[in-house]
Amino acid sequence: MIVDRYNRVHDYLRISLTDRCNLRCFYCMPEESYDFAPMKHLMSATELEIIAGHFVRLGVNKIRLTGGEPMVRSDFGDIILRLAKLPVSLHITTNALLLDRYFDVLRKARIGTLNISLDTLSAEKFKRLTRRDKFDLTMRNIHMALQQGFQVKINMVVMRDFNEDEILDFVAWTKEESLDVRFIEFMPFEGNKWTSNQVFSLKEIVSLVESKHKIQVIEGSLHDTAKHYKVSGHKGRFSVISTMSAPFCEGCNRLRLTADGKMKNCLFSKNESDLLSALRDGLPLEPLILQNISTKAEKLGGQFSVDFSKLKQESLKNRSMISIGG
Ligand code: GTP
Ligand code: 5AD
Ligand code: SF4
Repeated sequence: MIVDRYNRVHDYLRISLTDRCNLRCFYCMPEESYDFAPMKHLMSATELEIIAGHFVRLGVNKIRLTGGEPMVRSDFGDIILRLAKLPVSLHITTNALLLDRYFDVLRKARIGTLNISLDTLSAEKFKRLTRRDKFDLTMRNIHMALQQGFQVKINMVVMRDFNEDEILDFVAWTKEESLDVRFIEFMPFEGNKWTSNQVFSLKEIVSLVESKHKIQVIEGSLHDTAKHYKVSGHKGRFSVISTMSAPFCEGCNRLRLTADGKMKNCLFSKNESDLLSALRDGLPLEPLILQNISTKAEKLGGQFSVDFSKLKQESLKNRSMISIGG
């Protein structure tokens, strides 16, 4: 088992397949410059399968594929079918742009949830945020996924003065569709120009929705990143991922593998273990994995405290979100 000093058992691995993406969201990818990892530094499908297999033997039973955008890899279909043979539940986080190409493969691989990033319902804002004119295509693919019966969660990163005015519109979407809309507090990463006053917090989100609707709290599980709610009478629900104002680290069961094969034990951890180089050098991976987890901090990578209001993005040592994979 992969257990840390705080007795947290880690059975959920998030694997980034690539740091490339077909969008350019300003909260994820630095605007000025970003050097994509050279292809030879990325894990091949076979290397991925081997590394994932090591984690599974150590107790991982859930894998989520992220990016960048995981579907921009030309061997995405091959990777997913290989990983589907492991005894894990398999999930994907995507921006949905290429989703329609993969519905059959996803069904064959018995994909669990499809978490889809969508931060605005306005085509004009979508273009400003992503620097690409792809709103209609995104919406078309989300509707297709819902029609085909996939379990969809919508990830909406809330940024004050950008999209908090759309929270109620997203909640309205849950009236007739049984989807989960998740409002995510904006988090600081290298190059994303985060400032604390842009964080629209859990409290603010819940009181905004309560000003319009009667809401119920839905019990979650220990490992949830999200706190769940339901508007009475709505088919779907909404949730809040409150990393900044109310972190949920005590139930953390997550490990991360970056696209260049480095293990991170927390979204904000500085310590990275180069599993891909070890594999290529014929070295055993298990000692590296266990050593890495033994350094996991109690909260937030040990990098900041619960009061985020005085935090400066520049004071954190981390990668940009696009190279971690969320
Ligand atoms: P499920 O719980 O499997 O539905 O997925 P998820 O919420 O872990 O994954 P997703 O990729 O959809 O991420 C949604 C948001 O949660 C993103 O902003 C992630 O960065 C954030 N997130 C995911 N895992 C963690 C985590 O371990 N810690 C923190 N603080 N945030 C996380
Ligand atoms: N803060 C919060 N969430 C973020 N994501 C990307 N960057 C950030 C950020 N700075 C989200 C994306 C995606 C998920 C993997 O992470 O919206 O849905
Ligand atoms: Fe786990 Fe780190 Fe996220 Fe906390 S911030 S839940 S420790 S990954």
